[in-house]
Amino acid sequence: MVTNEELMNIAKEACKNSYSPYSKFPVGAAILYSDGTVYKGVNVENSSFGLTLCAERNALSSAVANGQKGNLMAIAIFSPKEKMCAPCGACRQWIWEFSKGNEVAIILEAKNGGLYTTTIKEILPLGFLLEE
Ligand code: THU
Repeated sequence: MVTNEELMNIAKEACKNSYSPYSKFPVGAAILYSDGTVYKGVNVENSSFGLTLCAERNALSSAVANGQKGNLMAIAIFSPKEKMCAPCGACRQWIWEFSKGNEVAIILEAKNGGLYTTTIKEILPLGFLLEE
C-alpha cells in the first residue's frame, strides 16, 4: 500500500500532464483503493470553458472505467500554486459518492510542500447519498 507521500508524488507527476492552457492552473490527482491500486487524473480544459473536467473527477472516472469496485481510501491533490487546491464542490460530491459513506482521506499539497490531510466527511458535512 502506498504512503500518503507516495500517493502525493504520483499526483505531482500526473500534474505535469495537465491540460490547462486557459487557466494556467494545473492540478494532478491520485486516488488509492483498498486493493492498493492507484489511478491518476489531471484537469482537462476546453475552449468552451464550462466543459472543463477537474483532476479529481478524471481520476475517479478512470477507476470506474477500469472496473474498480473496491473501497476508495484516499485522494491526493497537487497544485504547484501558492495555495493548496481544495476539491471544488462538484468533486466533493463525487468523492462522497465513491466513499460509500466511509472516511476517505483528502491529502493536499501546494508549491511549498508539506501535506495537509483532512477527510471527505470533514469537508462535505451532511453529504447526499440516495437511500437503498
Ligand atoms: N480544478 C481541479 O482540477 N480541481 C478542483 O477541485 C478545482 C479546480 C481545475 C479546473 C480548472 O482547470 C482549473 O482548476 C481552474 O479552475
